[in-house]
Amino acid sequence: MPIEFGERIRRIPAYPLAAGYDLGQDVAMLASNESCFEPHPDAIAAAHEALAGVNRYPDPSYQPLRQALADRYGVARQRIVLGNGSCDILLSAGEALLEPGAEIVYAWPAFSVYPHLAAASGARAIQVPLDSEDRHDLDAMAAEITVATRLVLVCNPNNPTSTSLGLDAIEQFLARVPRHCAVILDEAYCEFALALGDTYASVELLRRHPNLMLLRTFSKAYGLAGLRVGYGLCGSEDLRAAIDQVRQPFYLNAPAQAAAVQALGHQDEVERRVSHTVSARLELSDGLRGLGCWVADSDANFVWTHLPDPDLEGEIVSGLSERGVLVRAGSSLGRVGALRVTIGTEAENQRFLGAMGELL
Ligand SMILES: Cc1ncc(COP(=O)(O)O)c(C=O)c1O
Repeated sequence: MPIEFGERIRRIPAYPLAAGYDLGQDVAMLASNESCFEPHPDAIAAAHEALAGVNRYPDPSYQPLRQALADRYGVARQRIVLGNGSCDILLSAGEALLEPGAEIVYAWPAFSVYPHLAAASGARAIQVPLDSEDRHDLDAMAAEITVATRLVLVCNPNNPTSTSLGLDAIEQFLARVPRHCAVILDEAYCEFALALGDTYASVELLRRHPNLMLLRTFSKAYGLAGLRVGYGLCGSEDLRAAIDQVRQPFYLNAPAQAAAVQALGHQDEVERRVSHTVSARLELSDGLRGLGCWVADSDANFVWTHLPDPDLEGEIVSGLSERGVLVRAGSSLGRVGALRVTIGTEAENQRFLGAMGELL
């Protein structure tokens, strides 16, 4: 007789895992929006040092990282939520806020973990289509908010489409969201976003919106994806406390915390990576446009392109893979005929463009 699992197991969609981790060294890994740069040497050294003490559980209040973030962004420690990657915070927020009868509103296509929140909680998901330029349609999203809405997710810049909205538009939207309803502004890629100005600008919004959380990560610009560290800056302590209430006691390991503190202290390195990424994304976008593809205006560390013929998607993705280049197929992310391509090293980007030239 088969094991009887909870009803929600049938509802929760499987996360579309990237292929190719077993292909060896000579592969351009452009499928998961990681950083092509290794972690800062001081971050590696700090993680090493912390390893020597892992017979103990990590400090459950995570003071060093909490304090470093509080100092950098001027947000009280009690309003900072930490997590084993920002995904961990997202899922915990879903658990804290959602239940059957509640509603969650988000744009689609957006980050592939969002559908998990409604499926796991039994809440109703309202997916609002992106506009014709693959950007969030905030008017359409605002129109979907009802008394039942508990959580709104805005992904800025949006994964997978790379597009972003300026803070004026975000603030006008926030003014239309009732205070009982939490908003998570998912800023996993904010360091790369020219439309946002800098990483402090959106922090200002927290002063006026206690129902807001800015969700961020060390997995992208800071190059610590494998260590799993995310954080959320909250507009109120209540929001942080409710999220922490549903979690396991030790959710962030000590080497990860130590590395994140060091990485945060090396903003010069972050800036260097961001400028490499911004110029490389222009080259990639121009290269793809030159091959006849439509390319979204990217504000992230990846580009999003519609192929000249949507039916080519499968052939192109496998052709790229045969040439040692891994990208994400749009069909696994909610849009047939598109590709999401992470910015890699100079050589990886050239290999991708060269292979696309052969295939198209
Ligand atoms: C929009 C967005 N949010 C959150 C995450 C989760 O990142 P992590 O859990 O590595 O912090 C990702 C990862 O790709 C993402 O694209």
